[in-house]
This record gives sequence, structure tokens and C-alpha cells, in this order.
Amino acid sequence: MNGITIGDIQKKISNSLKKIDLTDREIQIERNLIIENTLSISLKEILLNQDKKIPNNQVRKIYGILKRRIQHEPLAHIFGEWSFYGRSFYVNKHTLIPRPDTELIIDIVLNSYKNQKGLKILDLGTGSGVIGITLALEMIEPDITISDICPDALKVVSQNLQRFNIKNIKSIQSNWFQNIIQKDFDLIISNPPYIDANDIHLTNPSIIYEPKKALVSKKKGLDDIAVIINQSKKYLKKEGQIIIEHGFDQANQIQKFFLREQYDNIFSHQDINGKLRCTSAAYNN
Ligand SMILES: C[S@@+](CC[C@H](N)C(=O)[O-])C[C@H]1O[C@@H](n2cnc3c(N)ncnc32)[C@H](O)[C@@H]1O
Repeated sequence: MNGITIGDIQKKISNSLKKIDLTDREIQIERNLIIENTLSISLKEILLNQDKKIPNNQVRKIYGILKRRIQHEPLAHIFGEWSFYGRSFYVNKHTLIPRPDTELIIDIVLNSYKNQKGLKILDLGTGSGVIGITLALEMIEPDITISDICPDALKVVSQNLQRFNIKNIKSIQSNWFQNIIQKDFDLIISNPPYIDANDIHLTNPSIIYEPKKALVSKKKGLDDIAVIINQSKKYLKKEGQIIIEHGFDQANQIQKFFLREQYDNIFSHQDINGKLRCTSAAYNN
């Protein structure tokens, strides 16, 4: 192993990652993440130090990571943490790996509410806690409740609350609204399961490492969203708002659910690729 440079290890990692079904862009991202994470250096340092030798123990560590990754184990699980909205959160097999797509919800909330103090917010199906915790860190003294049906996910939430030294978020185990008592939320937010059980993406070998309960919903992926839309209006203040993440082809159906339940100001939001990935609505009755 003597004499392996950063440039050499980049090539070795790329060649290994070609064995699994990743795009060239994904290979580049994962390769850099593996080096950054193992050597604790920045991308800039990787690029500026191509001829620098890597200590043997770190080369071995990288080979260990690659061995697991080419069996499709996600990098997030190998590292035990993953980035969301510029911060690194603990994750494990009980929590969804936070997706960049979900950052759209944060942008929507901050665009409308960033300067409002003390907003009462409920994050339903919080997983590792990324949405609620990010809002706790980005907003002015919000009053945040987060909940999930999965007790093991809530253990990860606790670790993340400690990691960011947050003491004032309420964390509740609940099957959607079953154990939620508070009924005056300004904002209910959810990235619920919304994938149809027959969706081709579920055959991706990396996806089997993630909890099915976090991904799949009955009735073509819409069952949980329908429940949340139906129930939320009892838990919102007058003119309170709900924002839901959904699949790129579900906006139409979700707008219909909101209309059926007599919400107003129904609006679907585009992500950076122009896809409608979140729908918001207000309840004024
Ligand atoms: C798509 S994941 C989202 C996780 C996290 N909010 C994120 O964006 O990374 C959906 C979450 O909903 C939770 N969930 C599924 N069914 C639920 C239910 N009936 N009640 C409450 N939470 C549920 C899952 O455990 C999972 O953590």
C-alpha cells in the first residue's frame, strides 16, 4: 500500500464505485465525500494535494468503506451521518436518509416566516428530525413539536437534539395525530411516505437499507397524505398552513384532496428542476 497518493485513491474509488449503479456525477460526489470524510480535508484540499501520500491506516479505512458501499450499503449508513441544509445529522437504518429534495420545504417556510417569532410548528413523520431541527435552528424562537410512529427513529432524533444542543423541541411518538393534543399550530409540515409499493425505484439495491415504512404508502402512495390532509385541519389555528412534500407526479391529486377538505390558498411549489414537489394550503374555517 506504500505510496498511495490522493490522486491514486481518487481513481481507485471511482473504479470501485463504477461496479454499482451510480451516475458519473454521483460517483464524483461519493468519491469526494469518502476522501473528505476519511482524511478530514476539504474538496479544495483534495484538488490542491493530488500528489500527497495518504497514511496506510487511512487507505485501509477507505478500502473498508468501498467494500461496504459496493454491496450497496448507502454512504449515509456507513458514515452514520448525512448532510441536510448545510448541517450533518445522525442517521441509521431506522430513519430515512435526508434527501436534498426535502430542503424545498425549509425554503418555503423561511420565505414566508423567517422573521416571525414564536411560530407553533408540527413536523409529522420527522425521521431523524431534520425538518423540525433545521427550522429550530433557522427561525426565531419557534415552538416546535416533532413526531414519528417509529420509536427507534425518535432515539435518533434525541441524538440529533443533543448534537445541536436543542432543549425546547417536544418529541412525541404518534401514529400521525393519534397522540397529538395541541390544536393551535401555525404550521404543520410533513414529508410522509408517498411511494407506491410497485414503484420501480424501490428495486434500487441501496433503497432496501432504508425503512419501508418511511417510503411506501398504500393507494398509489397517497394513503398517508390523504390522512394527514383530512386530520390536519383539526390541529391548525385559523389561517394556519400545511406544507406537504410529495412525488413529482402527485401534485394534482394532492390539490384535489385539499379542495375536498375545504382548504384555501392551495399552491404547489417547484423544486430547482421545475418539478412540483411540495403543496401548501391554509385552513380558514
Ligand atoms: C419519508 S420519511 C421522512 C423523514 C424525515 N421527515 C425526512 O424528511 O428525512 C417518513 C417518516 O414518516 C414516518 N411515518 C410513517 N408512517 C407514519 C405514521 N402512521 N405516523 C407517524 N409517522 C409515520 C416514518 O417512520 C418516517 O420517519
